[in-house]
Amino acid sequence: MKTILVAGGNSGIGLQAARDLLTDGHQLVLLGRDPRKGEAALASFGTGAHRASFLAADLSTHDGVREAAGRVLDQHDRIDALVHTTGVFTSQESRTTDGLHPFFAVNYLSRYHLAQLLLPALRHAERPVVLMMTAAVPPTDEADFTRFPEFAPFDFGHDRKPIQLANHHYAAHLTRTEPGLAAGVVNAGAAKTDILRIAPWYMRAGAKVLGPVLFDSLKTSAHNVVEATRYDDWQSPLYWGKPGRFERRTPITLNTETTQHLMDTSRTLTGA
Ligand SMILES: NC(=O)c1ccc[n+]([C@@H]2O[C@H](COP(=O)([O-])OP(=O)(O)OC[C@H]3O[C@@H](n4cnc5c(N)ncnc54)[C@H](OP(=O)(O)O)[C@@H]3O)[C@@H](O)[C@H]2O)c1
Repeated sequence: MKTILVAGGNSGIGLQAARDLLTDGHQLVLLGRDPRKGEAALASFGTGAHRASFLAADLSTHDGVREAAGRVLDQHDRIDALVHTTGVFTSQESRTTDGLHPFFAVNYLSRYHLAQLLLPALRHAERPVVLMMTAAVPPTDEADFTRFPEFAPFDFGHDRKPIQLANHHYAAHLTRTEPGLAAGVVNAGAAKTDILRIAPWYMRAGAKVLGPVLFDSLKTSAHNVVEATRYDDWQSPLYWGKPGRFERRTPITLNTETTQHLMDTSRTLTGA
């Protein structure tokens, strides 16, 4: 039985992944912001619920990530897999208490920070796995990191790509620096979840009209993180670009100087 932490596991694609991994007989720890959604998730697990727990955490701040990691480490010596499905979708200018944009703080930095703090428990696993969910962003060196990490003022159209690509760089960094650890990035596809709740009205309206035609099922969007957690026949670091198609993989090969720059900056910001 593996111990699998799903950050974002109280909602949407993360909840579906947690459900599927619970069916496999694993022990699940869910992290999320809203305790009511956490309780509802546990209640929906039926007979498997005793193998799942929920921790409420605000992962948009450094303190929130530190507190969450501390609570996880208090309860678990070993973590076999860490799955990041946390995310916000906002194009508005706003700042966390650390002065960072929430899209950057949640969709990238909290993943780096939480994984770094949980490395002692991940190192106790036979083949630790770290997976990060993003939108469709194939690995490429054609991205502008000059605004990293402030992204001020926030420009969603320009900044979403470098922020999401930082996940790919972190997967490459983990593979290089943590022997035996497998890391990857998974495209979520397009699924009907809570992700659009603070998106602009026209995006929510578009999703309502086009959703029934274009949306992937939650099962399809969760498929590749579930399979990557189940099987150890993949060569880290990898990017899965096609929801529901585990065999469609792209090796993550990126400029190592850029990776080092992003990791140094992430370490300076978080201290981890
Ligand atoms: N659905 C799509 O079409 C789509 C498209 C592109 C990318 N994605 C990515 O896929 C992943 C899964 O998203 P989803 O579609 O399943 O959306 P979702 O249902 O809204 O799930 C997002 C999760 O992130 C958590 N979260 C957000 N802010 C947080 C914070 N400050 N602290 C702790 N947890 C926080 C949410 O917790 P609460 O619910 O408790 O706030 C929730 O569990 C995300 O990384 C998202 O960016 C999804």
